Amino acid sequence: MSTKVLMVCLGNICRSPLAEGILKEKIDSDKVFVDSAGTANYHIGKQPDPRSIAVAKKHGIDISGQRCRQFTKEDFKKFDYIYAMDKDNYANILALATNSLEQQKVKLILHKKPSSEQEVPDPYYGGDDGFENVFQLLDSACEQIAEEINQKHSV
Ligand code: 4NP
Repeated sequence: MSTKVLMVCLGNICRSPLAEGILKEKIDSDKVFVDSAGTANYHIGKQPDPRSIAVAKKHGIDISGQRCRQFTKEDFKKFDYIYAMDKDNYANILALATNSLEQQKVKLILHKKPSSEQEVPDPYYGGDDGFENVFQLLDSACEQIAEEINQKHSV
């Protein structure tokens, strides 16, 4: 049975599609399933933001096939690890959890950083350099996540 990882932001068009695409590049897709979702319903069915598609492409990753969906309570059952991009997303996900097992699945994706640096900034209203910054933050976080999964789940 594969390990299942869900990346969550607000809109599921900027940050979490990048996190999904980056982690997919670092894992074996036979062993790890990666998906993303948004806590909001603004953009359901849409492609990732063109700026996220562009920054991913610049780094050799194609996220253009992804489509936005909203986080649901069912995701607590399906996924082993749920990574929130910021503290609002984290609180909104936790508010839907019905027991401590579900709560324990949820972490800030940057939880290993000092407390003042644990949020992936929302790049939606900013310029292109915000997207490069998000890419770099997520690239190093996903590197750690991929290593942890390999260590925990290696046979
Ligand atoms: P994301 O960014 O949560 O990283 O996908 C946003 C995308 C859309 C909006 C806000 C944040 N919006 O307000 O539509």
